[in-house]
Amino acid sequence: MKIARATRRHLYSITAMTRHFFPYTGFTFSTILERMQNENILYFAAEENGHTVGFADVEFRGKQAKILGLAVLPEFRGKGIGRALVKKCLSAAKKRGCSRVVMFVAEDNAAAQSLYAKFGFKKSGVLRRKLWGKKILIYGRDA
Ligand SMILES: CC(C)(COP(=O)(O)OP(=O)(O)OC[C@H]1O[C@@H](n2cnc3c(N)ncnc32)[C@H](O)[C@@H]1OP(=O)(O)O)[C@@H](O)C(=O)NCCC(=O)NCCS
Repeated sequence: MKIARATRRHLYSITAMTRHFFPYTGFTFSTILERMQNENILYFAAEENGHTVGFADVEFRGKQAKILGLAVLPEFRGKGIGRALVKKCLSAAKKRGCSRVVMFVAEDNAAAQSLYAKFGFKKSGVLRRKLWGKKILIYGRDA
């Protein structure tokens, strides 16, 4: 497994995963391409035998990094890919000189909450609006 900075080569897979796992973002192929070209947003792709099997995107604003999307295809879960993606986002935040890293997670998403807790993220609030009828928790930690 390899985690790399995502390029156009990963665009189709990342778009499909974003639509599937995070439909509320409304991100399309071209939105994601624009986001990849934005210097304040980084996309990482997880590859297994040359295939894109997961991704993460992280946005930088001032001293804060926000991990927006993080997903691994079901067939490839439980093998440490989610953990490797979080690690990559955290080291990117450090390199950028961020002091805080935050992320959003649905209240009923036990797998993601357990993953974040392993990296020392703690619940720091609740989003004011629900997404797809779900209460969204804000998790954060120092960078
Ligand atoms: C959350 C997600 C990214 C985890 O990816 P993964 O590659 O399976 O994660 P890893 O194999 O690196 O697991 C790391 C930790 O996550 C937690 N975890 C992963 N799957 C879990 C499950 N089904 N139930 C409970 N905890 C789980 C565990 O703490 C695990 O640590 P362990 O291996 O010591 O038990 C993946 O389940 C996913 O893509 N889910 C759908 C999209 C999503 O919900 N993204 C998060 C949005 S905030």
